Amino acid sequence: SRIEEQKLRQPIVVVMGHVDHGKTTLLDKIRGTSVAKREPGEITQHVGASVVPSRVIEQLAEPLKKIIPVKLKIPGLLFIDTPGHELFMNMRRIGGAISDFSILVVDIIEGFKEQTVESLQLLRARKVPFLVAANKIDKIPGWKPYPNEAFINSYAKQSQRTKELLDERIYHLMGELGRYGFNSDRFDRIKDFTRTVSIVPVSAKTGEGIPELLAMLAGLSQQYLKDRLIFTSGNAKGVVLEVKEMPGLGNTIDVIIYDGILRKGDTIVLGSAEGPIVTKVRNLLMPKPLQEIRSPEDKFLSVDEVVAAVGVKIVAPDLDNAVAGTQLYVANTPEEIEDAKNKILEELSKIKIKTDKSGVVAKADTLGTLDALVEALKRNNIPVRIADIGNITKRDVVEASISKQDDETLGVILGFNVKVMPDAKEEAEKLNVKIMLNNIIYKLLEDYFNWKEEVKR
Ligand code: GTP
Ligand code: MG
Repeated sequence: SRIEEQKLRQPIVVVMGHVDHGKTTLLDKIRGTSVAKREPGEITQHVGASVVPSRVIEQLAEPLKKIIPVKLKIPGLLFIDTPGHELFMNMRRIGGAISDFSILVVDIIEGFKEQTVESLQLLRARKVPFLVAANKIDKIPGWKPYPNEAFINSYAKQSQRTKELLDERIYHLMGELGRYGFNSDRFDRIKDFTRTVSIVPVSAKTGEGIPELLAMLAGLSQQYLKDRLIFTSGNAKGVVLEVKEMPGLGNTIDVIIYDGILRKGDTIVLGSAEGPIVTKVRNLLMPKPLQEIRSPEDKFLSVDEVVAAVGVKIVAPDLDNAVAGTQLYVANTPEEIEDAKNKILEELSKIKIKTDKSGVVAKADTLGTLDALVEALKRNNIPVRIADIGNITKRDVVEASISKQDDETLGVILGFNVKVMPDAKEEAEKLNVKIMLNNIIYKLLEDYFNWKEEVKR
């Protein structure tokens, strides 16, 4: 068919899950596996992301051919590394999430925790397909590790008791997923992948199960997301992961391009707290392969263009107020620029809300985290008076004190990954406005509810 002849881009895969359940270790292991199997000189380094080329996946999945037949048309998988995955999940493209697929990492010993549930709610709301990596199988009592082996091979060599213990833990996860409306099963027992979430037992420490994890990710995303992955050579679209000041370069942005082609000299439009920024790409930077780096300043390689899906550093003037989480559009004609500016304005106005007359003041460092914070507040029926990006200012304190006159328990500022400006601190003491800071959303809500109980007493 026509679609089959079209070129596909890499699916963007985001890793989610509870603190300490092994997200970073898993990505490190995947990256390590990929680096080890890579031909020297092959540039697949990215900014804020790692790529596992299809050649590597096919090689790893070779022993699994009987259960997972993968013939890959996608060029590989793009994994998002940094920063907060929560932030990334909240960055949206028109009509959905940026991430094409997700891995929900769950510690097989600990089972579901607060952030597992939070992640699951996000995945459901954004309709992002996912699989579950049941991590730390090496901690199952009696487990004998077979480093980097396929799970099924290693499982076959375990004692009967250890097999049973693992299966018990998997049933437990199936039960948890069922509570949230998801059918699931161990991946090698699934017949209909469109209706069943795959659970892949892995150890990020020993590498067991990584071959299946990669094969399942590649196979499922290629099969079920094909239309979404068709590569277009039009104007690039992306999201800003991070805004960073670089010595000698000024402010730069790390961007994941999820569609189209981005070229040096392109005009780009993106968001800042003050409104849309229109600027021109001065340089595009990709990390150099490790072995070619001679000095700390020598880390990047300048390229003329990049094609989706890719993580790249953009050097351009006027990026001082850019915010992470904003969309980025290439716009090379006056009409395209107008159109992109409107899209950015719409995006900004949706998030910077001023809704409830009385409510808490919510501040966060990026568009994505602000969105996540506001959504969590709403889910818990906490009214929001003002939600905005940036550090906590005197104005925020005044706003909170207005809410406080109506309802003592709403005279509060909740800050996610932001600082309190000195004059705001003074004002808060004067007006007796409570400021709470935390970098984990559910903890911030917990702090709020605890404080609320105290105030009521
Ligand atoms: P946050 O980024 O803090 O949310 O945590 P994370 O999910 O990235 O977890 P991380 O990868 O930092 O792992 C947490 C701890 O678990 C570390 O001490 C890891 O060494 C350990 N760990 C991760 N995966 C495994 C595993 O498969 N087996 C064992 N035994 N330990 C693991
Ligand atoms: Mg981590």
